[in-house]
Amino acid sequence: MKTPSLLLPLLALALVCPLAAAPVPVSTDPAVVAERLAAVRTPATPDTPRINGTRVVGARPEKPFLYRIPTTGERPLRWSVRGLPRGLKLDRDTGIISGVTPAKKGTYTLRLRASNALGKTSAELDLVVGDTLALTPPMGWNNYNAFRLKISDSLIRAQADAMVSSGLADHGYAYVNVDDAWEGVRAADGTIQGNERFPDMPALGAHIHSHGLKFGIYSSPGYETCGGFLGSLHYEEQDARAFASWGVDYLKYDWCSYIIDAGRLAADRHAELLPAHADVLRSMAAEYGPMRNDRRRPRPPEMSARMREIEAEQKKILSAIPGETLHAIERDIATDAYRVMGRALESSGRDIVYSLCQYGEARVWEWGHEVGGHLWRTTRDITPRWSQIMGIVNRQKGLEKWAGPGRWNDPDMLEIGNGQLTPDEMHMQMTQWCILAAPLLLGNDLTKLDPLVLSILTNDEVIAVNQDRLGRQGWLLRQTDAAELYVKPLSGDRWAVAFFNRGETPLEITFDPAELKLPALSAVRDLWRHKDLPASPKITFTVAPHGAELVALTPVKP
Ligand code: GAL
Repeated sequence: MKTPSLLLPLLALALVCPLAAAPVPVSTDPAVVAERLAAVRTPATPDTPRINGTRVVGARPEKPFLYRIPTTGERPLRWSVRGLPRGLKLDRDTGIISGVTPAKKGTYTLRLRASNALGKTSAELDLVVGDTLALTPPMGWNNYNAFRLKISDSLIRAQADAMVSSGLADHGYAYVNVDDAWEGVRAADGTIQGNERFPDMPALGAHIHSHGLKFGIYSSPGYETCGGFLGSLHYEEQDARAFASWGVDYLKYDWCSYIIDAGRLAADRHAELLPAHADVLRSMAAEYGPMRNDRRRPRPPEMSARMREIEAEQKKILSAIPGETLHAIERDIATDAYRVMGRALESSGRDIVYSLCQYGEARVWEWGHEVGGHLWRTTRDITPRWSQIMGIVNRQKGLEKWAGPGRWNDPDMLEIGNGQLTPDEMHMQMTQWCILAAPLLLGNDLTKLDPLVLSILTNDEVIAVNQDRLGRQGWLLRQTDAAELYVKPLSGDRWAVAFFNRGETPLEITFDPAELKLPALSAVRDLWRHKDLPASPKITFTVAPHGAELVALTPVKP
């Protein structure tokens, strides 16, 4: 198989992304609405209090800390926490814990309690103060799938508000991530600033934090981002410091225009591997460099056309290089580019989750964690089309061994609620992302949630599979024609098993615990419907076309 190339122009992508149309919104046709209501599987959330979300949170010593205890139940609710280390405090009326983490590394077990007029509940949350963030896959939202580059401060604030008012935050969604198109120009001292649609980035961060939610942002190791905005090239440390001072909690770092710089670096560092091409690559970079700009001056069309030509020429040169040679060059250059920002974030004074976005090239899963990354995209951009999502899923096979607490494979954001997937396909995406321990970043407009979409995104038992503290990515156990069975080990010696029907007609799929060498089962739980099933020797579902089912198994204790 030919090695995909990180150095090959992503320009096609850079050009396509900004132009791609936002997905069609969910239909309001009464027949469609009724059909969607009938497809709801998740039981209604009870009015009694329930604490949801992860049971383990990672943080570094002496860093700002913010955690909204995700709790469902009738309002008003009141919270209390036992075991809070000094430096952290709880707002009892909002359930938001804030402050600074302790200097001493270790696990602090917080005993969380929530009560309302109907009852009370408790749960334990381990705060692990150490070196690792993102001990379970990040949960939140990113604007790109629904809004592309058409974003503004007010749009992001409205989405953050909706994350709370819709109840999504009560199920564990916390990051509000601004993608490409917030960037303006640099001030005289080099400080990056928001553009006219983002006049006050610290104030935006403060608004998001006021809900107890987390603030995510986007940049690129290149001079320009995919959308043609300013990247962080040569300003990495300064940008990381600026982001930290704005209260940023998450950075998505997108390869984009770094390709031409990468080509020049390849020529400088690996001239011996590129004997015929090093000079050409250097001269291309020399011609290309001055044509980049920070959107202060419009780029004449002939200049853009020339840039595209250079990128195409580079692509031609690099595609002629044998796969493994190209991979060695790519890996060397990509690790360096990502390490620079990784280090800058680490010394920024804040805990900032670091998301690498370079489309799964240069086998990023092998080195993403080493350069400071907590998650990395494993494929190109997702779209709300079943066949394309299936293509992405197929590319996750075998990557499970690289994932774990603090290091996640990222098959891109959710498309649930973007109007083109059927109810079964939406259940399928959620099931698949949960069994894969993929980051759960919502990609829809949170101000326009219909009951079906909300039910799929807020099924706590399904989400618990994703957030399980073992942090294992599930894998394909068996595939028979259109039937696929995925399994994922869970804490407490339990297992999650997902049944997928990739075909066009309903399919009976049976799982035998013997396939996992499990002893007899003491419990089988249908996680979508919150129902105990008979702990019979085999489990059979008739799975809808393009649909999924998910169970948790508890084996009998030996
Ligand atoms: C792409 C990236 C997308 C989005 C876009 C913004 O490269 O994969 O997720 O961030 O750039 O321009």
